[in-house]
Amino acid sequence: MKKIGVLTSGGDSPGMNSAVVAIARAAAAAQMPLVGVKRGYNGLLRKSQNIKDDLLELDLDTVLDIADLPGTYLRTARCKEFLDPAVRQAAVNTLNEMDIGGLVVIGGDGSFQGAMRLCEMGIPCIGIPGTIDNDLAYTEMTLGYDTAVNVCVDAVRAIRATSRSHDRPAVVEVMGRHCGDIALTTAVATGAEQVLVPEEPWSVEEVATRLNDLMAHGNTRSTVMVAEGCWESMKPFDLYGYLAPLDANVYPGEKMDAHNLARVLRLMCSVEARATVLGYTQRGATPNARDSAFAFEAGYLAVQLLCKGISNQVIGVRNGRTFYMPIVDALKEKRAFNAELYNVVNAL
Ligand code: ADP
Ligand code: F6P
Repeated sequence: MKKIGVLTSGGDSPGMNSAVVAIARAAAAAQMPLVGVKRGYNGLLRKSQNIKDDLLELDLDTVLDIADLPGTYLRTARCKEFLDPAVRQAAVNTLNEMDIGGLVVIGGDGSFQGAMRLCEMGIPCIGIPGTIDNDLAYTEMTLGYDTAVNVCVDAVRAIRATSRSHDRPAVVEVMGRHCGDIALTTAVATGAEQVLVPEEPWSVEEVATRLNDLMAHGNTRSTVMVAEGCWESMKPFDLYGYLAPLDANVYPGEKMDAHNLARVLRLMCSVEARATVLGYTQRGATPNARDSAFAFEAGYLAVQLLCKGISNQVIGVRNGRTFYMPIVDALKEKRAFNAELYNVVNAL
């Protein structure tokens, strides 16, 4: 193999840079130049006027400085046209022209689908799981999840301090797309009294009943952790019909969200419930030790696999150890949400 390429794709996640540094160090040790592909698969399509905005040789000295930085130095972007085989052929042509004999793809399941397609077209690829969502069933860890949870835990503790001071319940929304893991783990780690996730059905009335019950028992500052995807599993609730007679500031068709849930709870429970949406603070955090350590192992392993001629694999963690398996099998695995733990949080 003459050169290796690396790209980050999908949402950025803490630890992506640490993985790129590990890849750069392993490639340097194997005396193979490393090419950084910018903005996910877009860089392979050479859309920019200046080639360095698409593809740049990564010099070890420069890369060493980015190891601990949040975000992704290589930039990231979605590239919808990569679903088109003709577009992917253009990417393969770029890789061949540049003498790039193997590609490390750091991203989530969508990015891995792209890597699998490139393998089918003769480009050896290895995937490293990079997503805060923790939505990849085959692995116990994805880069950034642990960091994101720690950001959420710090935030909930801070919110709780002010909630306690004012005797106000809090609704706190975290990310995770269709996956409730960030919300559940944060709820468990902070002792939140309720958690709402996309995997389990729930109703506004149940949340209000539980909040009233907690207040009746003296807890005036409880936390309702909500996953951003939990609105998918909410039992039907007529938000406009409920709010309009009580509060003019609502429009027909308005959707339920964290702020509206707090608003409804204020009315149903006669309490000053407030909402906070943590948003991108979770994604843009500095990687913690766990994520950086996994990034190091995964980056090193990815280069070893490519050097040995092993491809079409994804790296992950199983039983606490870094391992690899075929992309196709990894993507077939079904996620098992921890419903037991979810029930415990909502029942205690
Ligand atoms: P993630 O990798 O975090 O799941 P996305 O689902 O947005 O993020 O996918 C990232 C990128 O991976 C897409 O923008 C596209 O370039 C590529 N991709 C996703 N699905 C496919 C597919 N079925 N075939 C080829 N490329 C894909
Ligand atoms: O996949 C990571 C993630 O942060 C999800 O938790 C969230 O739903 C999504 O990306 C947000 O994506 P965007 O960057 O397009 O707002």
